[in-house]
Amino acid sequence: MRLALHALHDELRRLKSAGVSTVAVSEEGLVALRRAVTSLARNTGGARELRATTNILVPAVVSAVPTAYEPPPFRPAQVAASGGASAPAVTLPPAPVVTLPSGDKATRWAALHEQVVNDPTCRSNVRAGKKIVLGVGAFDAKIMFVGEAPGAEEEIQGEPFVGPAGQLLTKMIQAMGLKRGDVYIGNIMNWRPQMPKVDGREQVGNRPPHEAEMRYCLPYLKAQIEVVNPDLLVALGTTAAQGLLGFGSFAALGDIRGKWHAFAGKPLMVTYHPSYILRNQSNRSKRMIWEDLIKVMERAALPVSEKQRGFFLDR
Ligand code: URA
Repeated sequence: MRLALHALHDELRRLKSAGVSTVAVSEEGLVALRRAVTSLARNTGGARELRATTNILVPAVVSAVPTAYEPPPFRPAQVAASGGASAPAVTLPPAPVVTLPSGDKATRWAALHEQVVNDPTCRSNVRAGKKIVLGVGAFDAKIMFVGEAPGAEEEIQGEPFVGPAGQLLTKMIQAMGLKRGDVYIGNIMNWRPQMPKVDGREQVGNRPPHEAEMRYCLPYLKAQIEVVNPDLLVALGTTAAQGLLGFGSFAALGDIRGKWHAFAGKPLMVTYHPSYILRNQSNRSKRMIWEDLIKVMERAALPVSEKQRGFFLDR
């Protein structure tokens, strides 16, 4: 593990010398990094030695993560400011126009899927050998969850929320007394936002989508809402909330979560992204999301037992 951390340190130094000042790391990656640093600190008698030898790069990345989940704020200049990195294109053609055929939901969804997977912009932004991702779930779902963008697992499987955050989302859905297949799960984005290249090599990790990317994909999300016609929407995390409510419409997720908003004529609950729990395993964190989900269950007329009301109260 020590060798791996030193290798990571060397790579971060190399990127830094190439002018890269920001490195996006997936939620899961951050959890793993934190664990590795803590464990090394335990085994070597302290992280101080590590910090000395790694010039604080790794701990800086790890400690930069806020304790309450706020995904990195949207920074359009983040990639362009990365010096030697070649930024992915953020100039996109006008957003697609979706015309859904008449027919049942399955027919309409299939037509939408066909349009999305053949969309030249989606195709040119998805990595070679990886998949464009559309939502998944029940066509008669009362509840539609909306996340940010596909990650590593999602672009392989072509399905949203199948990685660690997705497994947690599935557990959250089960705690609501539902099965994953009872709801519909979509994302703001249909492709995994590409990381900039440094010295011709792609960086590892995820980055939040640019506003232009989200604007481009939004008609596809709206079309899924039109097809499924759920009773309500749940935005998971800052990026999804920004995509649905508009950039600059709120200062911090904490200000708007747990409250009802509206999007596309549907009630919209905003809550934290499941990654928040991956990074903050406390009952307090779980309870915050859970309280938002109780509101969702009530509005969707789902039964809420006393036992469910008491989940994660032991803070
Ligand atoms: N996070 C998201 O927001 N969406 C996914 O599909 C996976 C992880």
